[in-house]
Amino acid sequence: MPFGIYVHVPFCASRCGYCDFNTYTATELGGSVTRDTFHQVLIDEIRYARAIAGDREVDTVFFGGGTPTLLEATALGEILASIRDEFGLAADAEITTEANPDSVDAEKLVALREVGFTRISLGMQSSSASVLRVLERTHTPGSSSAMAKAARVAGFEHVNLDLIYGTPGESDDDLRRSLDEVLDAGVDHVSAYSLIVEQGTPLARKVARGEIAAPDDDVAASRYELVDAVLRGAGFDWYEVSNWAKPGGECRHNLAYWRGTDWWGVGPGAHSHLAGERWWNHKHPATYAEAVARGASPEADRERLTSEQVQTEAVMLGVRLAEGMPVSDIPAASRTAAAVLVGRGLLNGEALLAGRIQLTDAGRLLADGVVRDLLG
Ligand SMILES: C[S@@+](CC[C@H](N)C(=O)[O-])C[C@H]1O[C@@H](n2cnc3c(N)ncnc32)[C@H](O)[C@@H]1O
Ligand code: SF4
Repeated sequence: MPFGIYVHVPFCASRCGYCDFNTYTATELGGSVTRDTFHQVLIDEIRYARAIAGDREVDTVFFGGGTPTLLEATALGEILASIRDEFGLAADAEITTEANPDSVDAEKLVALREVGFTRISLGMQSSSASVLRVLERTHTPGSSSAMAKAARVAGFEHVNLDLIYGTPGESDDDLRRSLDEVLDAGVDHVSAYSLIVEQGTPLARKVARGEIAAPDDDVAASRYELVDAVLRGAGFDWYEVSNWAKPGGECRHNLAYWRGTDWWGVGPGAHSHLAGERWWNHKHPATYAEAVARGASPEADRERLTSEQVQTEAVMLGVRLAEGMPVSDIPAASRTAAAVLVGRGLLNGEALLAGRIQLTDAGRLLADGVVRDLLG
């Protein structure tokens, strides 16, 4: 079974109004954590992980955040070196970092490639200046595709751009222009998410005060169809409801996660899944770092998954994949629900006869509802 390591870097230069990820600006952190030395804490957890997980060669590594590229390339390289030293990295390991376009330049991209990264995922979101303003992004239109091109020049094998669609005020033409910019950038992967208004974020407060309209579900559905049509026309195919790739460009780390394999999550708030158990680390970087410094596990809590939980998670993640999932992995009582979903045009009838649950194009627009129906 493949084994992946996720490394969470909980820092951002500024906070985007819609984001509720476990990330902190320098002001939010105050003096409680030093960004310059934080990679040492992550390395200490990797040593601890080796002692617990034992001998397991690592197939994929994914640095997420936050903005991992706020750390120096040398610091990220030291983290990677410790994974290599402790566990060993497969010869063809996929090693991804997320990056905000503002946090890299051509020189840094070369340095990231040199320390071992093979894949980079840039948060572009949109090429419209007004949409970027609503999202409170700090980069200018054009900088994301410029950095994607620079990543190719630096020798990255795989490059992803993240898009957000359905932002209030975004027009169809805004999205078409964003997709044109993505295609011009020559990337082999695109993630596109509809804007979610997360509770407790500045965006949610603006929507509640009526300063910004709430995103509209019908608009989001038609924008999803536009994304899919443009990307398919350009040689991409969907492999997960919100992810498209050119052949061979699929993110192996995320695919393994969606297929329910084992991974260790290093860093504050990171989740791990190993041998039927799941645990999650202390969320705040200072609390997390204190536990690691004591030589203790930084976990906040853990649970052994019941067979029912395993099944629920397999359905929630597996249904969203283009490859689908075996019918035998859904609850026996849901077989009738699957047949009804075929009747409604949301599941593929031929696939069901062949023993697989697979969304149709119409089903992709209603994937959450399909999951709910299959879980009863
Ligand atoms: C950790 S960020 C990517 C790297 C970097 N921090 C950045 O934003 O450029 C992960 C991605 O999640 C998506 N995301 C975060 N919050 C979201 C929300 N509320 N609705 C839709 N997409 C969201 C964005 O597309 C973002 O690029
Ligand atoms: S979207 Fe990315 S850059 Fe913006 S706050 Fe979230 S993690 Fe940070």
